[in-house]
Amino acid sequence: MSNKTFYITTPIYYPSGNPHIGHCYTTVACDSIARYKRMQGYDVMFLTGTDEHGQKIEEKAAEQGVTPQQYVDGIVKIFKNLWSYMNISYDRYIRTTDGYHVEAVQKIFKALYDKGYIYKGEYTGKYCTPCESFWTDSQLDENGCCPECHREVKEAKEESYFFKMSPFADRIEKLLLETDYLRPKTRAQELVNNFIKPGLEDLCVSRTTFKWGIPVTFDEKHVVYVWIDALNNYITALGYENSAHSDFDKFWPADVHMVAKDIMRFHAIIWPAMLMALDLPLPKHLAVHGWITFNGQKMSKSLGNVVDPFVLGERYGADAIRYHILREMALGSDSSFSNKIMIDRINSDLANDLGNLVSRTVAMVIKYFDGTLPADREADDLDKELISMAENLRTNVDRCVDETQLNNALAEIFKVISRANKYIDETAPWVLAKDEAKKARLATVLYNLLESIRISTTLLSCFMPTTMPKVWEQIGADESLITYENAGKFGVLPQNVTVHKGEVLFPRLDIDKETEELNAILLKNAPKSEDADKANLAPISETIKIDDFGKIDLRVAEVKSCEKVPKAKKLLCLQLDDGFGTRQVVSGIAKWYTPEDLIGKKIIVVANLAPAKLCGVESNGMIVAADVGEDARVIFVDKDIPNGSKLR
Ligand code: MSP
Repeated sequence: MSNKTFYITTPIYYPSGNPHIGHCYTTVACDSIARYKRMQGYDVMFLTGTDEHGQKIEEKAAEQGVTPQQYVDGIVKIFKNLWSYMNISYDRYIRTTDGYHVEAVQKIFKALYDKGYIYKGEYTGKYCTPCESFWTDSQLDENGCCPECHREVKEAKEESYFFKMSPFADRIEKLLLETDYLRPKTRAQELVNNFIKPGLEDLCVSRTTFKWGIPVTFDEKHVVYVWIDALNNYITALGYENSAHSDFDKFWPADVHMVAKDIMRFHAIIWPAMLMALDLPLPKHLAVHGWITFNGQKMSKSLGNVVDPFVLGERYGADAIRYHILREMALGSDSSFSNKIMIDRINSDLANDLGNLVSRTVAMVIKYFDGTLPADREADDLDKELISMAENLRTNVDRCVDETQLNNALAEIFKVISRANKYIDETAPWVLAKDEAKKARLATVLYNLLESIRISTTLLSCFMPTTMPKVWEQIGADESLITYENAGKFGVLPQNVTVHKGEVLFPRLDIDKETEELNAILLKNAPKSEDADKANLAPISETIKIDDFGKIDLRVAEVKSCEKVPKAKKLLCLQLDDGFGTRQVVSGIAKWYTPEDLIGKKIIVVANLAPAKLCGVESNGMIVAADVGEDARVIFVDKDIPNGSKLR
C-alpha cells in the first residue's frame, strides 16, 4: 500500500428519522472524492456514521415504546442500506453508541476537565418552557417575555459543565482568516464577526435533564451533551483514547471534513478549539456546502418535502441520482431540487451526451469494421482539439477534486464528452465509410472517440461507479487499462480494439410524463393526517368574522438587507422594502435562516402591528412564517408580486 494517506469524513447523522436525498449529498460527495483519491494511489480512510445520543432520540424511542438503543438500531440499518444502495465505499462506520467511542469520550471529557478547560457552572437566566431556551434580561421583549414566542419566562438554573472557548479565540481567528482551512473562505469573515469578535462564549457540554447520553464518569448525574460526544468521532474512529482501532497516527489530521452550512460553526470554531485544548493537530480543510432545498426550503421530514432516494434510485438508478445531486450543487450555495430539472439532466447529459456517444461509437465500429478496428491510421488536424482536451482532462479534474468543487469536476468531464459528440458531426464517419480509400481515416476517428470515452469514463467512474464498468465492456477496455495513470494518456486502447454491443446505459425519459408520475409519487409519500398528529399541528383557532381578518394588514415586502442582532442568538434584523419605503422588522428566525438565505427574497409582513422592541431593537411588524414541528419556515412569495401588495 502507498504511503500517501488521505482521510475524509462526513458528519455523523442523527438517526432520528429516515434518511433523505439531502443527507445523501455529503456522503456521495465524500465517496466520490475517496474513490478519486484511491484511484490516485492514496491509502484512503473514508469515515461516516451516526450520532445516536440525545433527548430527541430518547423521546422518539419513548413514543414508539422501544428503548433508545432499539430505536437507533432500526434506523441505522436503513442508513446502512441506503449507503450500500448508493454504492458508498466507506472504510469505517462509527456509531456513537459503540463501546470504544463511549469510553474514549469519557476519557477526553476527563482530560479536558483535568487540564482546566472544562469547569462546572450553571445556566442561569430566564427560561421559556415552550421554547426550551434560556434568555438574558437584555434579550427579553418589551414586556419582559420570551423574545421568540412572547410568552412568560421564569427564573431558572441548571447545573452544567462548560468548555472554555476564550483561550483559543486568537488562534481560531487566524485559522479562519489566514489559512485555507475553511472552504469557501468567503464565510470566514462572517464567522469571525458573529462569534469571535463579540467574545467567544463558553460551550455547555453536559446536561442533567435527560439520560440518553454518555455519562460523565466523575459526576454521574450529567451526560455529555452533543458536541464533545459527536465531534470527537473523527478521532475516536481512528483509535484515539481506545484500542478498537489503531490508525490515528497514520490518518490524523484529517484531510477533509465535509459538512453542510448549518453545522459549519461547530466545525469551524468549536472543533478546532477542542483539538487545541487536547494539543492535537488541526484538520487540513473544512468544506462547507449548502442545502438541497425543495421549493426554497431545506428538505425536512416535518415539512413533508423530503425526496426519498430509494424511490429515485429505483426509477433512474443510483448513478443518475449521484450525478444529479453532485452536478447541481456549487460549493457554498444551496441547490434547489426539482424533479423536472433532474429528469432534464438525466436526458440531456446522461442519455443524450454520454449514452449516445457510447452507443453511436460502438455501433459504428460494429457497422463499419465488424466490431474490430484495423490498425491503419490517418491523423488530421481536426483531431487535435479533442485529443488535447482529453489529455488535459485529468489535470483539470484533479484540481476540481482537490478544491472540493465536484460540480466543476463533472462539468470538465462533460466538456470532453460534448466535444467528442461534436467531433462526430465534424468528421462525419458515415461519409468516410462510403469511400474505401478513407478506411484508415475512419478507423482513426473511431479510435479517437473510443479513447475519449475511456479517459472521461475512467474519471467519471469515481462519481458514477455502477455504470462505467458497463461502458468499458462496450468499448473493449480491459479493466486493467482503467487506471489513473492511463487517464492522463491518449492512445492506451490496443489499435485493433474489439467493441461489444451492450445495453442502453440511460434510457431516454419522456419528460412530461415522467415529471407528472414522479410528482404524483412524491405527493403520495408526503406525510398524511396521522403524520400531522405527529408533527403536533396546532388546533384550528376560534372562528372570526371577515371584519376581524380585515384588521390585519398583510403586505408583500422585499428583504433588502438583513443582519444578526448582536447578543440575541435567535434574532435577525431585516430592512424591508414594503412599497412605501424602508421598514425595519426583527424576527426570531436566526436558528433556521442566515441573512443570505433571506436577502433578495419576497416575504409577507404584518404591516399594522404595533411597534415593539426586541432585545432593544425596534421592530415594525412581523414576518409571516409557518410552524413546522419545532421549526419555523418563512413564507416566501413570487418575485413578480409588487412590494406593498395587500393580501386578502
Ligand atoms: N449529528 C449532527 C452532526 C454531527 S457531526 C460531528 C447533525 N446530524 S444531521 O443528521 O442533522 O445532519 C447531518 C448533515 O446532513 C448536516 O451537515 C446537515 O446539514 C446535512 N443535511 C441535512 N439535510 C440536508 C439537506 N437538505 N441538504 C444538504 N445537507 C443536509 O447535524
